[in-house]
Amino acid sequence: MNISLLGYGKMGKAVEAAIASSGEHTVVSHFNRTSALTPDVFQSADVIIEFTTGEAFIGNLSTLVKSGKPVIVGTTGWASVMETVKREVEASNTLLLYASNFSLGVHLFFRLVKEAAALVNTLDGFDVALSEVHHTAKADVPSGTALRAAELVLAELDRKTALRTGLEPNGGKTAADELLVSSLRLGKVFGEHTLHIDSESDDLTLTHRAKDRSGFAKGSLAAAVWLAEEYQRGSRGVLTMDDFLAGRLKPKS
Ligand SMILES: NC(=O)c1ccc[n+]([C@@H]2O[C@H](COP(=O)([O-])OP(=O)(O)OC[C@H]3O[C@@H](n4cnc5c(N)ncnc54)[C@H](OP(=O)(O)O)[C@@H]3O)[C@@H](O)[C@H]2O)c1
Repeated sequence: MNISLLGYGKMGKAVEAAIASSGEHTVVSHFNRTSALTPDVFQSADVIIEFTTGEAFIGNLSTLVKSGKPVIVGTTGWASVMETVKREVEASNTLLLYASNFSLGVHLFFRLVKEAAALVNTLDGFDVALSEVHHTAKADVPSGTALRAAELVLAELDRKTALRTGLEPNGGKTAADELLVSSLRLGKVFGEHTLHIDSESDDLTLTHRAKDRSGFAKGSLAAAVWLAEEYQRGSRGVLTMDDFLAGRLKPKS
């Protein structure tokens, strides 16, 4: 498969390394902030993998959809304009897959978080919270991954009805119906997410810790190969990792 990399920073280079070690796929072009982007620059690609900044992604969106190529978007920090992005992709009859986290281990974590929250819902006396740690250069807070985990908890645990992303308001007190997502920025941490479960007698934690960027890179490459095939099969619109994983993360029945 021929792949264009939009964004050639830490993640773009990690994807390039994953492509090289796949032995099957080729990087046909890569672009950064100084590149003159037009729809034509992507013509030799079967699929585009995008890891830039939220602002850059939104700024480049119309060029991307005009290229007529399926696009993998790994950039975070733009989810508040998701509906606008969906409308633009649908109107141009193209295909885009977005994930705030491409690590397959994180998707396993999401499944376990959802299951844990559903089980906690059946028990009185257990409280839950989420925490995340990332490197100090991370531009968005809380992480998109922590927000997704929070959505899963809120959907399953009836006694949590509101998201709380900082302790400061209200003197640090957290109401029983608030789900706290706490963030720490530290050194070069690639990404760590934890679901905390607490009762008077127990303390459980479920943590996903990224060891390096390779998990994100390999997951985005696997999704890109699948997306290019889906495009050929006629899929259009905005997909998520749940679509990609639908046939893969299936427990034995
Ligand atoms: N979904 C996931 O699994 C996952 C995992 C890790 C990170 N991320 C996200 O991926 C994004 C990139 O992370 P990173 O660590 O690779 O950042 P980075 O090292 O800062 O790289 C960003 C890249 O984007 C390029 N860029 C900036 N503005 C651009 C523009 N207008 N047009 C084209 N290219 C532009 C930069 O070019 P210059 O070098 O010329 O400035 C650079 O190559 C962030 O949003 C991060 O949160 C997602």
